[in-house]
Amino acid sequence: MGIDIGTSGTKTILFDAYNGEVVASSTSEYELYQPQIGWAEQQPEDWWRATVETIKDVVNKAGIRGDAIKGIGLTGQMHGMVLIDKKGEVMRPAIIWCDQRTSKQCEEITSIVGREKLIEITANPALTNFTSTKVLWVKEHQPKIFEDIYKVLLPKDFIRFKLTGEFATEVSDASGTQFLDVPKRRWSREILDKLGIPFEWMPDVYESQEVSGYVTQEVSELTGLNPGTPVVGGAGDQAAGAVGNGIVKPGIVSSTIGTSGVVFAYTDEISIDPEGRVHTFCHAIPNAWHIMGVTQGAGLSLQWFRNNFGGAERELARFLEIDPYELMTEQAQKSSPGCNGLIYLPYLMGERSPHLDPYARAVFFGISAKHNRQDMIRSVMEGVVYSLRDSLEIIREMGVDVSNIRASGGGARSKLWRQIQADVFNTPIHTITVEEGPALGAVLLAGVGTGIYNDVPEACQAVIDIEDSIAPREENVAIYDKYYKVYGELYHSLKAHYIEVANIEKNISNP
Ligand code: XUL
Repeated sequence: MGIDIGTSGTKTILFDAYNGEVVASSTSEYELYQPQIGWAEQQPEDWWRATVETIKDVVNKAGIRGDAIKGIGLTGQMHGMVLIDKKGEVMRPAIIWCDQRTSKQCEEITSIVGREKLIEITANPALTNFTSTKVLWVKEHQPKIFEDIYKVLLPKDFIRFKLTGEFATEVSDASGTQFLDVPKRRWSREILDKLGIPFEWMPDVYESQEVSGYVTQEVSELTGLNPGTPVVGGAGDQAAGAVGNGIVKPGIVSSTIGTSGVVFAYTDEISIDPEGRVHTFCHAIPNAWHIMGVTQGAGLSLQWFRNNFGGAERELARFLEIDPYELMTEQAQKSSPGCNGLIYLPYLMGERSPHLDPYARAVFFGISAKHNRQDMIRSVMEGVVYSLRDSLEIIREMGVDVSNIRASGGGARSKLWRQIQADVFNTPIHTITVEEGPALGAVLLAGVGTGIYNDVPEACQAVIDIEDSIAPREENVAIYDKYYKVYGELYHSLKAHYIEVANIEKNISNP
């Protein structure tokens, strides 16, 4: 069984390891609370309710007994902070990965630890997404809560606690806390001491495939699972998604377009970008790491366009009972590579890789009277891929082979978007047969931890096949190379103006 504690909902799947098929799947959604602009919180109890609901549902749908389930793997949104007191109760809503309130704490961490030391130990610069910044925010703003903290857990590890009673995590998700010594794969006493966070607050750290606990009697009665069912470490959603995508050996890279976009590469030796433009985290495989570049507004850019300017497609799609994105892709197809000089910068939510700039904003550059909606839709799709290429170029610079790329996420369903990726990256783009993402990765880790497979690559080999491949078109590669250069320069030309506008906005809202 794989359980994915996502941001919009929890997805649980039951996978037949012997037939290589998903037997049953269930999703349950919950709220995201935004008490102030830039804040993002969720109720851990909502995740637990959704977990219980979806476990019961898949057991029911599959029509099996609990003892047929050999093991459970957990995955989920990374970086979120769940605070637990001595009684095992949740102390406040979780501050989750996309919350942006902690710029000040990032500066504090950088000045206390030192930027170079921070990158040397945690493999990353301080970012508002990371758990450490959220804990320091509570220290400053809610000192009474801070004093009574017993454990700091990540979202999926809270679910592990509810399932097994154990306080535990695993290396891939722990990498996103910024408390982990990423090269050594264990908590960093040095970082914790310097930030004034007690070591005892950290749960035990396992490798992703290791068994971390067993389903309790109480949970068995609640869900229909067998008491004693092993729960393995699992992985953060990115590492688990990579396992589900077969990114488990050198030379295979994934390019995922979901709400955000991620370029993910496997490395069997730790490799850190000294400038911290891409993340280095532990992979869900012993002695392996991964490098990851994140585009904040990938699928989000097209969704934003659909929601605000795609009324016609939305109406027609409802009538034809198809996905409005299909109609938008048809429109984009009518434009041409490079959109006659229209370039889109996808910084709707600031940008992580490579700029690490919360003030960056999206731009349509080069609009002329001859441009139309078709060009605008296509330029959004191209701009997202230029941003992914930024990450790919850095990963390439770090000496990683990026010649074999697998596309995944909602964006991979569009053939046009896959062709644009092949042309902008100048590499063939492959897609695979299974589309279950992180939940499948969690299942495969459970398969390894319970002895069904010998190791993660063997598990991937058993269930993942290439479905389709698209080759780059030479004439398009040449066009995109030229526009990509301009795309890169545009950010630098605009950087100072982004800050200027942010200051104006700040003064207007706090005169
Ligand atoms: C990874 C990241 C997201 C979240 C939510 O660094 O921020 O993938 O895990 O999906």
